[in-house]
Amino acid sequence: MTVSDNNTPGHFTMTEDEIIAKFPNRLRGYELFRKMGSPRHIVAPMVDQSELAWRILSRRYNATLCYTPMFHAKSFCDPKPRYRNEQWQTNQEDRPVIVQFCANDPDILLKAASLVGTDADAVDLNLGCPQHIAKRGHYGSFLMEDWDLISRLIRKLHENLEIPVTAKIRVYPEVEKTVEYAKMVEAAGAQIITVHGRLREQKGHKTGLADWNKIKAVKEAVKVPVFANGNILYYEDIQRCIDATGVDGVMSAETNLYNPAIFSGKVLPSWQMAEEYLGICKQVPTNPSYIRAHMFKLFRYSLPIHTDLREQLVTARELSEFCDVVALLKERLMEEAAANPFDPDNVQTDEFGYRKYPHWICQPALRFEHDKLHSSSNRLLNEAYMDKAKQEKT
Ligand SMILES: Cc1cc2nc3c(=O)[nH]c(=O)nc-3n(C[C@H](O)[C@H](O)[C@H](O)COP(=O)(O)O)c2cc1C
Repeated sequence: MTVSDNNTPGHFTMTEDEIIAKFPNRLRGYELFRKMGSPRHIVAPMVDQSELAWRILSRRYNATLCYTPMFHAKSFCDPKPRYRNEQWQTNQEDRPVIVQFCANDPDILLKAASLVGTDADAVDLNLGCPQHIAKRGHYGSFLMEDWDLISRLIRKLHENLEIPVTAKIRVYPEVEKTVEYAKMVEAAGAQIITVHGRLREQKGHKTGLADWNKIKAVKEAVKVPVFANGNILYYEDIQRCIDATGVDGVMSAETNLYNPAIFSGKVLPSWQMAEEYLGICKQVPTNPSYIRAHMFKLFRYSLPIHTDLREQLVTARELSEFCDVVALLKERLMEEAAANPFDPDNVQTDEFGYRKYPHWICQPALRFEHDKLHSSSNRLLNEAYMDKAKQEKT
């Protein structure tokens, strides 16, 4: 990154005081956090999955801040508004909300972010996407080698956007580099930093555990609020994560998809969540492919048993067809539940520490059931991390 004599990157065209004078009412760091209600329970940005209907459902179960799916800045500001209208839906119930973009051109990012106006509390820059498509498009975590560009993207919004900018980052193998990186993101103008505690390489079958120690190090190094992301399977993990890292809020992606009630601590049957979600979709038109993906996740452990309904779900397109499948599944699952009553106060765990729920209860997905020792959600390792962090604290 090119820096001038006084250690300020060359692309910083305004001082902090000048920015404050330009946007006297724009909220900074903890002001923004408090204005949003000091959210501790955060629904992650999820492509095709953290859409409006899902955000509404999650909020009913104690999610206190939601991110939209990642939008492509370039497509978002296309003169034909089709992409934007399809992707960005919101309503009065949908606050606080942060809109996420991926981008690699500061001007295009600003143009896209400006179209959000004040319909969101902040705009987030995706610096975490590890997918091949992000490599080809040069965005997400593939900007991690180009700190200058990252700084220019964030700075552009910080100096010009009506609402605050935030960023979601991944970590490096070295804790020191991760901390320097987060400080650079903060210096550019990010008002909240979400740290997904995994490396760029930790995806698919290599997902593994998020490193809470790196999240803790970032939290200690920056002044803006920090959200932790990774390793949340059960409600109790949220407090464990806060205790271990000192973060201001905890974000969940996958577990929220399998159990939208994760933030409430409630243990609920999948059909109840599915019915409620479809009820919301009646009010809020939702893309059938998003609905289908949600159904597959909610009924993750029941569909392999009820394979005929799985087939029906694959071909469903109309909302009424999804409702029919769920009604049939509900009938069968309720019968099973009546025959094998479940006591939520007496849940057994397996030798790895995973809770053994009946298949019709919303529960986190275990990524590698054939090899739980290396699973992203290995309870024992998870708890070892937390114990270590606790020991360091005392
Ligand atoms: C279906 C799905 C879609 C995702 N889409 C995005 C996205 O749009 N933007 C983003 O920053 N991360 C995205 N992620 C990553 C998550 O936000 C999160 O960082 C990651 O899954 C780790 O959190 P978890 O351990 O709670 O799943 C996605 C994850 C999933 C499972």
